[in-house]
Amino acid sequence: MEPIGIFDSGLGGLTVLSAIRKKMPFENLIYFGDTARVPYGSKSKETIIRYSLEILDFLLKKNVKMVVVACNTASSHALESLRAKSPIPIIGVVEPGIDALFRNTGIIKKAGVIATRSTVNSHSYVHALRKKNDDIFLYQKACPLFVPLIEEGFANKSVTEMVIREYLEEFNREDIRHIILGCTHYPLIKEAILRIYPHFELIDSSTETSETVFRKADELNLLNEENRSAGRNGSIEIYASDLTESLEELRRMFFGESIDKMEKVSLQW
Ligand code: DGL
Repeated sequence: MEPIGIFDSGLGGLTVLSAIRKKMPFENLIYFGDTARVPYGSKSKETIIRYSLEILDFLLKKNVKMVVVACNTASSHALESLRAKSPIPIIGVVEPGIDALFRNTGIIKKAGVIATRSTVNSHSYVHALRKKNDDIFLYQKACPLFVPLIEEGFANKSVTEMVIREYLEEFNREDIRHIILGCTHYPLIKEAILRIYPHFELIDSSTETSETVFRKADELNLLNEENRSAGRNGSIEIYASDLTESLEELRRMFFGESIDKMEKVSLQW
């Protein structure tokens, strides 16, 4: 049975791969991390769309039956272009993030989303929220320093604590309690944020995304029933556009589980 393709600007999307693996262990999964061109969070819409379409092409050649855009920045800018070009379903992480907000809250008047600068500028979370509910005011905050700090392994260092206060004190002051983690990397500083602001409800979209993927695959009869009924686990393949020294460390940080295969691929650009 064909695999599910998952991609991100780098390895942060492995948090989404991990959630999908947990929800659907019977599926064959192919992950692509654009490690040669990360970060996307500071790039233009045009560039993000071009990169995303190239990755779609790579995944289609791998015969995937569905694509999950694990990257918030790519989901914010490229989803429509990907859907227009794709013969198979494309699932992003922004709508599941909003669904997760509703699942985790009662009636609230305001919420927050933290993300890369590019995601914030796209207003994708505001648009997705508006489609569902007009009453909640969504405060957006770009936190561009979080990704490099996390990739440097500084999630629990005091410098990150200072940066968290700098970015999030405003939410605290405005009495915003529910905050969507609108970036693949941010689940890794969840604990650090909660140490400073224990009353915050941090909403991670990866579990909700895996639920959406399951529902969609089920609806379209795309589940790997053969493996599922045999109780067999699917395979996991990871591809990256660059293999760097710190990659193994990052892979462990984001994924934990061991991987059979990690291979460098060159995209045409
Ligand atoms: N994957 C990106 C996101 O979720 C974060 C890293 C980047 O800027 O490329 O927005």
